[in-house]
Amino acid sequence: MDAMKILVARRAPAQVLDKLAARFELDVHDGEVPLAPAELQARLRGKVGVYITGTERITADLLDACPTLKAVCTMTVGYNHVDLDACTARGVLVTNTPDVLTESTADFGFALLMATARRMSEGERLLRAGGWKSWAWDFLAGAEVHGSTLGILGMGRIGQAIARRGRFGFGMNVVYHNRSRLPAQAEAELGARYLSKEALLREADHLVLVLPYSAASHHCMAAPELALMKPTATLINVARGGIVDEDALAAALREGRLAAAGLDVFEGEPQVNPALLTLPNVVLTPHIASATLPTRLAMAQLAADNLIAALTGGSPPTPLNP
Ligand code: DGY
Repeated sequence: MDAMKILVARRAPAQVLDKLAARFELDVHDGEVPLAPAELQARLRGKVGVYITGTERITADLLDACPTLKAVCTMTVGYNHVDLDACTARGVLVTNTPDVLTESTADFGFALLMATARRMSEGERLLRAGGWKSWAWDFLAGAEVHGSTLGILGMGRIGQAIARRGRFGFGMNVVYHNRSRLPAQAEAELGARYLSKEALLREADHLVLVLPYSAASHHCMAAPELALMKPTATLINVARGGIVDEDALAAALREGRLAAAGLDVFEGEPQVNPALLTLPNVVLTPHIASATLPTRLAMAQLAADNLIAALTGGSPPTPLNP
């Protein structure tokens, strides 16, 4: 019997490719630039499965053009790039990679909060440019982290891991808003207080966005929401760029209505809104919150295990549409 054909749409670790090659006939796109939508469609012809990252969009039109496709396995926890309903309607199994990236993403979220509050990028840029003239009492004075109020919008696994860092590492007062409130015991263990979204925005000294991106959360941090925040507050985004209206954010930062922002994700990434690039009070990183080698390997392994199970009659470890 001919081997099943799959597309590995982005560069993947050698051990993962070996594992997949032992079971399937592989077509691997290992270029640095993702396949354009038309190329992706062409390469998917005759394939039963695809291994993707967040850079490939799986749409209803693509699925209709590739009727042999049975499984879409993304090496990401976020899956806004996959039309889940369209997949489900066509009997295409979809999986993601939750859990294995929770702690490293939370580490990075907290690092970004620290760098933003304590003006680390600004200080380094100034120093490298020869702008460090002397010590002064208010030189690059930033916002306090320990003992301040940490606001978390989206209290899933990563939100809770950030809450633990804030509460138990830095003695922060943790407040959160989420679609559904956590059970009382989980709140007590985290020392986290549930607030309405408006109250959260008003109270937070540092607001971390960790909610999933969907039509419902698109630009849910726009001018009216930013206006509720303290002018001394910072905003950190390690979720998806489209959650924030970047023009409104840039205006708030420029006009001193918000102190600073730390952004790992962007609406048009890898392009970054030019208004953000020119502001001194923004820390910008290129979507690397989960980027440690052990975590990325674990994500790749899990995506491959999902693909193997989905196509060989097993139970994928982390399905999105069982
Ligand atoms: C995810 O897994 O959704 C991240 O954004 C990619 O690192």
